[in-house]
Amino acid sequence: MLRFYCISLSLCLFIACKKTSDRPKPINGNRGVIAEHAMVVSARSEASKIGVDILKKGGNAFDAMIATELALAVSYPYAGNLGGGGFMVYRKANGDIGSIDYREKAPLAASKNMYLDEKGNIIPEKSTLGAMAIGVPGTIAGVFEVHDKLGSLPIATILKPVITLAYKGVVVSQKQENRIKHYQSSFRKANKDSIVFDFNWETGDTITYTALAKTLERISKNGRDEFYKGETAKILAKFIQNNGGMISEADLSKYEAKWRDPITFSYDDLKIISMGPPSSGGVCLAQILKMLEPFPLDEYGHNTVKTIQAITEAERRAYADRSFYLGDPDFVEIPIKTLISDSYLSGRMSNFSFEKATLSEDVSHGNIKIIESMETTHYSIVDQFGNAIAATTTLNGAYGSKLYCAELGFFLNNEMDDFSSKPGVPNMFGLIGAEANSIAPEKRMLSSMTPTIVEKNGQLYMTLGTPGGATIITSVLQTILNVHEFDMTMQNAVNAPRFHHQWLPDHILMEPNSFDRSVITQLENLGYKINEGESIILGKVDGILVLEDNSYEGGADYRGDDTAIGF
Ligand code: GLY
Repeated sequence: MLRFYCISLSLCLFIACKKTSDRPKPINGNRGVIAEHAMVVSARSEASKIGVDILKKGGNAFDAMIATELALAVSYPYAGNLGGGGFMVYRKANGDIGSIDYREKAPLAASKNMYLDEKGNIIPEKSTLGAMAIGVPGTIAGVFEVHDKLGSLPIATILKPVITLAYKGVVVSQKQENRIKHYQSSFRKANKDSIVFDFNWETGDTITYTALAKTLERISKNGRDEFYKGETAKILAKFIQNNGGMISEADLSKYEAKWRDPITFSYDDLKIISMGPPSSGGVCLAQILKMLEPFPLDEYGHNTVKTIQAITEAERRAYADRSFYLGDPDFVEIPIKTLISDSYLSGRMSNFSFEKATLSEDVSHGNIKIIESMETTHYSIVDQFGNAIAATTTLNGAYGSKLYCAELGFFLNNEMDDFSSKPGVPNMFGLIGAEANSIAPEKRMLSSMTPTIVEKNGQLYMTLGTPGGATIITSVLQTILNVHEFDMTMQNAVNAPRFHHQWLPDHILMEPNSFDRSVITQLENLGYKINEGESIILGKVDGILVLEDNSYEGGADYRGDDTAIGF
């Protein structure tokens, strides 16, 4: 079979231009897919359909969550996974809320300086590429925990269509072809042998996943422990160690997913329910929205100078706090109540003026800079009983560590890079973290994943989330504001151009060719640096909005192959 050659810069630029000109115009009134009873929105139509079929069989949102999560592992190996982890927030029809953390953990043999050389410098690629980058995977523990507590159908019924899909195969989309081409040199670098993605796949080809199907069959038959204590655990630990990694059978057998209290707060007449630490998502989202609450954004208008200024300044201050205070709550004390309190947050905005940009160097904790991988995937589900979930799952980077276990049929994450390898000093990506997120055995690395559910007047209103590394939080934020402040439909809220500020680097990242030139010029005149070059897209938001007649509108992001399916 033919091998691909590295994608050229000019092709990358061509793709970038094409994507932005493909952007659908957000026209108020344009609605996404509407469904009367239930809906699933995810990164691939195959996964959304499998989730919806489980609902049609009488399953609930939690059964559909398990089916969709694992169907994404088959159909969207870029971020869907068995070798990674994630977070889910839920709201049951009776109003009960909760969240589960199935985030990866550092292995038992991990140590604070494991990515540093003898001079104390970061060793390039050690935390991003290959077996040393892998955290102990949490996805299978997460879905079984959800099943035990909240599921209704037998696990074999839920996994059957996923296994069938893996045997039958998945058709390569144009976007997938581009992604596979783009990462092929990294696949070759990370793997000793050629892997299934190392071939000349073209749009319309079908990739079958027989090894993954067999792994899922064993899990379906033997349950959660197959992955953590059974044959799969033995194969996985041996494979990782043969490739120079440190995850052992003991690491796998000790892994547990954890139920956590979600972060809840109000914004105007909305109640927001989002993920708490070890994700920074809920705390940051709360900080930004609470800082914005006094500003009449609806009067300023969508993506106007004043709106962008207010949001940017709130983001700058929230991200300044993020890495300093946040980490794994099982290891560090986090002052969550204070961080999201009105008194603390009104003080944070007291030095903001519309006359001039605040400089990030003038905002405290000025040595923390966040640049994270932009990958991950999100799906949202509402069932016919009124239960809702928002789940975000990841391998961290695109295809994770790029290390692919052919015998088991899946990629392994590179989540260890979400730790701060050297607190206070930038790593190879410019990431500077704080002590709160330093590496320790069995610790969970800080995340930005922000699966979020919104209530209005005590009723379910919206469920949403997105991939995008550090930009996840600000994409979720803007989508909520687009619906609530700017009266957009779910689909238009998802489609609308996005921007992002994360304190450092001190610039506003904007989706290119998407904002008014005059707005950009005015922002520059006020002292803001605009960067339209570094990001082709910001996030791929998938959300569901409850309409006045109690039907559901799905917003599936055009930036990916994302699809809403309902009935
Ligand atoms: N790995 C991306 C995140 O957890 O935010």
